[in-house]
Amino acid sequence: MEGVRRVTTQTLRQMKAAGTPIAMLTAYDYTMARILDRAGIDAILVGDSASNVIAGHETTLPITLEQMIYHAQCVVRGVTRALVIVDLPFGTYQGNSKEALASSIRVMKETGAHAIKLEGGTAVLPAAERILQAGIPVMCHLGLTPQSIYKFGTYKVRAQDKEESDQLRKDALELERVGCFAIVLEKIPTPLAAEVSASLTIPTIGIGAGNVCDGQVLVIHDALGLTTDFHPRFVRHYAKLSELTSKAVKDYVRDVRTRDFPTAEESYWVDGES
Ligand code: KIV
Repeated sequence: MEGVRRVTTQTLRQMKAAGTPIAMLTAYDYTMARILDRAGIDAILVGDSASNVIAGHETTLPITLEQMIYHAQCVVRGVTRALVIVDLPFGTYQGNSKEALASSIRVMKETGAHAIKLEGGTAVLPAAERILQAGIPVMCHLGLTPQSIYKFGTYKVRAQDKEESDQLRKDALELERVGCFAIVLEKIPTPLAAEVSASLTIPTIGIGAGNVCDGQVLVIHDALGLTTDFHPRFVRHYAKLSELTSKAVKDYVRDVRTRDFPTAEESYWVDGES
């Protein structure tokens, strides 16, 4: 939101109340976080999608808490305005709420980030409550939760039947009741996302949930067209960085081979030049 010096969980709530859509993107490193922050992004998610787009794993499951902490530290150094939220990785909060709190405390103490995100509804409620009791803001994530991909067995749209959509409605209300500050809704039918968003005072952030949510999030590599083999309908490419980067690298290889790079002007000739 323009004019806001530092975006907080309260700012996001006010944006929902004012009907101002919240813009969130993922980032995993200092340079990208700095660009996003200066361009006016409201919130940055240090997503466990780093497991896919940074580490090259097929799923988000392998990334560790140490690795997420490292990414979050890099991002936080690049940000002066946006709210920084960090995903708790698979296996660091599902076991019990004490472990969930310990993981969250590590993230908050070691990174300087502002909030954590958990995947799941009722199942993670005790963990969310315990983390919130310690004063740590919690964002939750419902619908197609990538850490449960082996349980789902498919990347198809979630909550299409009555049982799953009723559960998602209940989960969202419970998460709001215990004090979560926002909920990511991933790959669910737009009418359900509209209903859930209208039933809550906390913001929903959609990804593949239509423009009815209170905000939107995309993985930065998808938004910038760095990923070229991932084409779900909810991704819009705002740039073609894969093509641009490939062309730049080809030009560089050509210039090195032909000794066109570096030129005399790009070289040092006397002592003391900088
Ligand atoms: O890890 C991630 O990038 C996410 C977003 C897709 C919401 O959870």
